[in-house]
Amino acid sequence: MKTHSLQEFQKTAENFVSNLSPSSQKAVVVGLYGNLGAGKTTFTQAVAKSLGVEETVTSPTFVIEKIYELTNQKFSHFIHIDAYRLEKSEELLHLGWQKIISDSKNLILMEWPDRVLDIMPRHIQVKLTHLSENERQIEIML
Ligand SMILES: Nc1ncnc2c1ncn2[C@@H]1O[C@H](COP(=O)(O)OP(=O)(O)OP(=O)(O)O)[C@@H](O)[C@H]1O
Ligand SMILES: [Mg+2]
Repeated sequence: MKTHSLQEFQKTAENFVSNLSPSSQKAVVVGLYGNLGAGKTTFTQAVAKSLGVEETVTSPTFVIEKIYELTNQKFSHFIHIDAYRLEKSEELLHLGWQKIISDSKNLILMEWPDRVLDIMPRHIQVKLTHLSENERQIEIML
């Protein structure tokens, strides 16, 4: 679909997360694909907000991974990862990746999954495209 404003984009992200349910076996993993500035962090911030995360969700480019504890939600943790600066997938393995993706109470949103595709489990692909200053294309592949 195509969104025409930041507000509509954020609303779409909220709808997206409201339609997600935990699986019984493993984490729900969402890969956010799209060029620099496409809106990956903005999408993540809208998702975090709708899950009740009160702290400001900043881009984890330098810390790679941020874990937010959720209260009264379908998931117990919201994990935001930015793989942009990772040189090897192994670095993510050192951050406990296998354990994180094994926990069915986790919802993981990953920016730049293309960087670590070899260790990505089956995931929901969200592809964001910058169309103009205020317009974005959002494609979701389950
Ligand atoms: N749907 C939108 N409508 C208007 N502006 C947007 C939209 N999405 C993002 N922006 C703006 O575009 C800029 C970049 O967005 P954002 O940081 O979310 O991109 P990104 O995909 O995470 O980039 P990066 O690859 O650098 O991590 C920000 O200033 C943000 O406010
Ligand atoms: Mg970003």
